[in-house]
Amino acid sequence: MSEHQCVHLGVNVDHIATLRQARGTTYPDPLQAADIARTAGADGVTVHLREDRRHIQDYDVFNIKNEIALPLNFEMAASDEMIEIALKVRPHECCLVPEKREELTTEGGLDVVSQVSALADAVSTIRQSGALVSLFIDPDAEQIQASKKIGADIVELHTGNYAQAQDELQEQELKRLKDAATLANKLGMQVNAGHGLHYQNTSAIAAIPEIVCLNIGHAIIARASMTGMYEAVFAMKQILNGARLESEGQGL
Ligand code: PXP
Repeated sequence: MSEHQCVHLGVNVDHIATLRQARGTTYPDPLQAADIARTAGADGVTVHLREDRRHIQDYDVFNIKNEIALPLNFEMAASDEMIEIALKVRPHECCLVPEKREELTTEGGLDVVSQVSALADAVSTIRQSGALVSLFIDPDAEQIQASKKIGADIVELHTGNYAQAQDELQEQELKRLKDAATLANKLGMQVNAGHGLHYQNTSAIAAIPEIVCLNIGHAIIARASMTGMYEAVFAMKQILNGARLESEGQGL
């Protein structure tokens, strides 16, 4: 299969920072995770700098932009503070998302229809940084049309409902995503998708021909913590074994 037929993978490294922030340590480092993702074939890196800074910190965004040779997708609320940061970071792409302090993760897409003029201003300001502007929206025709109207380059279709649904309902959600991808593509916008995608539910979404890039985080970081567990325990055990031998040696 040639390169242009494959859907791209943007790896979201937010939850590496979640683990770091839980202890206030310097590790694990999202920059290092982004570099490993690059060597494994990721096509881009995504970070969400939340207003409450619960995981990614400002310096992570700058470090990844400056040191990782992959396009950076900077997820952010359309607030003055974040727009100012975006203009300094100059990422490849800014993805505007709705943000509520109390939510566990981004719930629902951006309501573009009800915020046309404020979002149009945000889109045109961010464009000055040279970044493409993406809007994270539900797979809904009105939201897609409004996104086109305010000049979005990309729509990222929210796959959360699809990911949570089962059986027939999941089929319905898949159909919504396919129809939305067709419409957005017809209107000339790039189509991305993401949220809640994992190793069992991603194939059907990756098969939608209009989708250019899938942004996936939680499932990848969760799997990495399991596939890396053996090596991590083994390495610590080596240290324990080696330490007793070393002190015995010193006593001789
Ligand atoms: N796309 C957007 C706009 C998001 O907000 C998120 C979550 O930060 C993702 C993709 C990735 O979602 P997940 O971590 O569930 O893969």
